[in-house]
Amino acid sequence: MIPISDPKSQLDTIQDELLKELKDVLKSGQYILGSRVSDLERTIAKRLGTAEAIGVGNGTDALILTLNAYGIGKGDEVITTPFTFFATAEAITRVGATPVFADVDQRTFNIDPSKIEDKITDVTKAILPVHLFGQPAAMGEINQIAKKHHLYVIEDACQAFGATYKGNQAGALGDAACFSFFPTKNLPTIGDGGMITTSDPKLAKRIRSLRAHGSYKKYHHNEIGYNSRLDEIHAAVIATCLNYIDQWNDHRRHLASRYDDALREIPFIRRPYRDLDSTHVYHLYCVESDQRDEFRNALTKQNISTGVYYPRCLHLQKAYEHLGYKLGDFPIAESLSEKLFALPLYPGLLLEEQDYIIERIKRQVSE
Ligand SMILES: Cc1ncc(COP(=O)(O)O)c(C=O)c1O
Repeated sequence: MIPISDPKSQLDTIQDELLKELKDVLKSGQYILGSRVSDLERTIAKRLGTAEAIGVGNGTDALILTLNAYGIGKGDEVITTPFTFFATAEAITRVGATPVFADVDQRTFNIDPSKIEDKITDVTKAILPVHLFGQPAAMGEINQIAKKHHLYVIEDACQAFGATYKGNQAGALGDAACFSFFPTKNLPTIGDGGMITTSDPKLAKRIRSLRAHGSYKKYHHNEIGYNSRLDEIHAAVIATCLNYIDQWNDHRRHLASRYDDALREIPFIRRPYRDLDSTHVYHLYCVESDQRDEFRNALTKQNISTGVYYPRCLHLQKAYEHLGYKLGDFPIAESLSEKLFALPLYPGLLLEEQDYIIERIKRQVSE
C-alpha cells in the first residue's frame, strides 16, 4: 500500500547520522533542556528571522503556552478557523478562552480575512490563523485587522515549517508562532516536539518559565506552569533533519507540480490553489472532488492510500456542542470537509509510484 505520508522512508535516508546523534545524547548524560535544545532554538530563530525560539513538548502545548503567556484565558475570545486540526481550537479552550470561528477561503482553505472583522467583540484578544496543509494564511490582511483592533496574531504554523509569505518565513509573520515536530510534519522528530517563535522578549521569557513549572530560577515558582520541554533527544533529531528540510520541501513542491500538471485536464478533480504571495510546503496535497468517495474507493483497491483532512469541521464537533454552532454556519469549510482528500506526497515517494497513482486516477475517470 502506498501511504499518504511515510516518515520512516524519509528518516531512513539519514539513519546513520541520526543513530550517531542518538548515541551522543545517550552518552552525554544531559537529557532535558541542555545545549542541544538551546542550540536548536538559536538556529531556528536565526533561520526564521525571529529574536527567540523556545522548544516545548509538542505543537498543542506550543499553542497553549503562547496563549497563556499572553494572559489569554477565561472570558476572552480568540478568532480562528473551523477547518483545521482539533488542537488549534482545543488550545484556546484549554486556557479557558472561547474559540470564535470565521469561515475559510474557498481557494486557500485558510481563514478568510474578510470574515474576521465581523467576529471581533470587546473581549476578543487574538487572531489565530493556521497555515493549512503548508500554505500561509493571508497574513498581510490579518495583521492589518489585528493592528486596527489591538489584537495579537498567533500563527499556527504546525504544518508549515519552511513556508514563506511575501518573502518572510512562516513563524515570523505574526506576534508569535507555534510549530509541531510530530513525525508526519515537514520537519519531524521521532516522537512529540514543538517550538514557539517570537520577537517579543517578554513573551519568550514567560514561555520559558511556563514550560518549566512557572519557574524563573530552580525551585522558585512565580506562577503555575506546565511540564512541557523539548527533550534533548528530539532536539538532536530535529537539528539533523533541519539540514535536509530545504531539500525535502523542494522535493514536496516538485511532487506537487507533477500532480498539478497531470491533474490539470482531469474532470471531477480540482487541484489545490497556489497563492502567488506564498511558497507552499505541501505538508499535504489535497484535491477537491464531488466524487470523493468514488475516487478514494477506487484508489484503495489499487493499494493507494488517501486521507480526509478534515472530515468534520470544528464547530460541528461534539466537544464544541456547547458553543451552539449549527450546520450551515460556515458553508465553505463544511463543503471542503465533504470534498477534500489528500493524495500521497512525502519526500520518500518515488516518481514511479507517483506516476502509478496518476495513471490510476486517470483510469478511474475514463472508466
Ligand atoms: C494545524 C495543527 N495545529 C496543531 C497541531 C498540534 O501539534 P502536536 O500534534 O505536536 O501537538 C497540529 C498537529 O498535529 C496541527 O496540524
